[in-house]
Amino acid sequence: MTFPIQRMRRLRTSENMRSLIRETQLDVKDFIYPLFVTYGRDKRNMIQSMPGIYQLSVDNLIKEVREIDRLGISAVLLFGIPESKDCQASGAYDPEGVVQQAIRAIKDTCPDLLVITDVCLCEYMDHGHCGIVERDGTVNNDASLELLAREALSHAEAGADIIAPSDMMDGRIGFIRKALDEASFSHLPIMSYAAKYSSAFYGPFREAAESAPKFGNRKTYQMDPANVREALREVELDIAEGADMVMVKPALAYLDVLKAVRDKFGYPTAAYNVSGEYAMVKAAAAQGWIDETAVMSEILLSIKRAGADMIITYAAPDMARLLVKS
Ligand code: PBG
Repeated sequence: MTFPIQRMRRLRTSENMRSLIRETQLDVKDFIYPLFVTYGRDKRNMIQSMPGIYQLSVDNLIKEVREIDRLGISAVLLFGIPESKDCQASGAYDPEGVVQQAIRAIKDTCPDLLVITDVCLCEYMDHGHCGIVERDGTVNNDASLELLAREALSHAEAGADIIAPSDMMDGRIGFIRKALDEASFSHLPIMSYAAKYSSAFYGPFREAAESAPKFGNRKTYQMDPANVREALREVELDIAEGADMVMVKPALAYLDVLKAVRDKFGYPTAAYNVSGEYAMVKAAAAQGWIDETAVMSEILLSIKRAGADMIITYAAPDMARLLVKS
């Protein structure tokens, strides 16, 4: 051998040695836990494709939320399943809507737990699209903004801590920011689903939120999975319009996008470890093909390593319990 061997293995000899030089570490405070709120009482509807995740009525949601708070998780992200849907998404901005009720109940029970609300119309529209649909089947961007702003305002009035628009209409961040400011909610931050791709990984979520589009797909508003430069433009625009935090979604198949967004803008960046990513791990683990905890930890670590400041994940409670133990 003509060169001295570089001894990389010196620093891998024991767990203490490895932990001394570890560059990335998951923390309970990184996690945001999504919750599905449904109407009625004493409901706990299983979601087939997402083992461990339920649609919960407000009374049961509160029990879950107490546990989330106790585990030290910083925030929950709310999605609503209304009793009825229509073509104006009225359930989205009903002061007595499921999400509005849930916000008030959570803030009454655990005032310090941050309540983030997903602002989108798909769960409340009879056709399942994220905006107002015209006769010819197209989604009307500017008309949808009015409804999104009403929804955001009603979440703010109910006591939400962070507003998270996920619809992907153009100009919605600026529109919602203005509406919030004019209603004296200028202190409320916006977490924008800035780079949200039109992804097959949302499949299980659409069962959970009962929000699958009844016709067509979301390709005219959500992004093409092939594009990263376009994602940077989306993020740039949302920041210019007033976003305080930006999100890349999904996470695992888009780690390059996440890294590019974090490196270029340095804004607080969230990554959404979506339903399909969760379901794949659960399904393979149920077959005994992978070690669920090890694989989930590795996935979440990769998301943090790529640049996420926050990770929205259905595995938050399990991971929190694991982190407390280790
Ligand atoms: C609403 C919304 C979706 C998700 C979050 N907000 C579904 C979609 O765009 O169809 C997906 C989350 C997940 O898959 O876990 N627009």
